[in-house]
Amino acid sequence: MKDFLAVSDYSPVELQEMLDLAVALKKELKSGGNKPLLKGKVLGMIFQKPSLRTRVSFDMGMRQLGGDALYLSPAEIGLGQRESIADVARVLSGYVDGLMARVFAHDHVLQLAQWSSVPVINGLSDYNHPCQAMADALTIIEDFGSMKGLNVTYIGDGNNVAVSLMHICAKLGANFTIANPEDYDITPKAIEDARKFAAVSGSKLTFLRDPHAAVKGAHVIYTDTWTSMGQEAEAKKRELVFPPYQVNAALVAEADPKAIVLHCLPAHRGQEITDEVADGPHSRLFPQAHNRMHAQKAVLVKLLA
Ligand code: CP
Ligand code: NVA
Repeated sequence: MKDFLAVSDYSPVELQEMLDLAVALKKELKSGGNKPLLKGKVLGMIFQKPSLRTRVSFDMGMRQLGGDALYLSPAEIGLGQRESIADVARVLSGYVDGLMARVFAHDHVLQLAQWSSVPVINGLSDYNHPCQAMADALTIIEDFGSMKGLNVTYIGDGNNVAVSLMHICAKLGANFTIANPEDYDITPKAIEDARKFAAVSGSKLTFLRDPHAAVKGAHVIYTDTWTSMGQEAEAKKRELVFPPYQVNAALVAEADPKAIVLHCLPAHRGQEITDEVADGPHSRLFPQAHNRMHAQKAVLVKLLA
């Protein structure tokens, strides 16, 4: 596999190997630094949307592995506007050793991968967010030892983050439950894929409207913004629909007593999550954000080393 575009493209064994490598690289970093496995390699980072975590964690991950990264802003590249995606991909392939792209349309990251001769990593599209899912799995494994048999509940919009989380749960044997409002379901194609993975791993997939029913027995409660980047025009409408899906202390109290709370960030405190939960004892929000870097380093080593 040249690229990392979706969790669904990788087998459970390959995903677990990358997670094991992430654990090893994190340990190695903490005990004095990583070996320069990516010495001399440069990652080109194409951004069509803002980012804090993705930008900094990829940049620092490359540096820690002896490589470097190049930030290409939306204004500079004009992906598909100033020149075609196929041309951008072929030009950049001659300069850098890998590409990471954050795009609006998922098709754009697929086109980049098609035309690029170097590996392409999906740093979030409107369809999915596979690097986030790797960090999520790493964070869950750090608390519970494994994903197998855990109950992972996502509350909120059936968006890009929900798709990748569902897929990694279905691949690695965690039960996945989502509670979302009507009209904000995960896309049928993503669900169809998840059902295939779940049939192999034994995961149970549950699709609900009621957040209270969804958190019963949950070991992990996950939420994300009600309005994703690119959907800003719908924000007002969404703010009327989503309040029953807020992850607050009362909802967390209905889950397993040892439940952890995850959020990919940025958080809209007072909307999808309260301060009390985000900063409370169940929260793993900041270790999760830090795990973006550790998980992605494993992906980088797998694709670029
Ligand atoms: N979670 C995440 O992808 O954060 P950024 O948008 O800041 O990169
Ligand atoms: N669903 C959010 C995730 C941000 C990291 C978005 O796409 O804006």
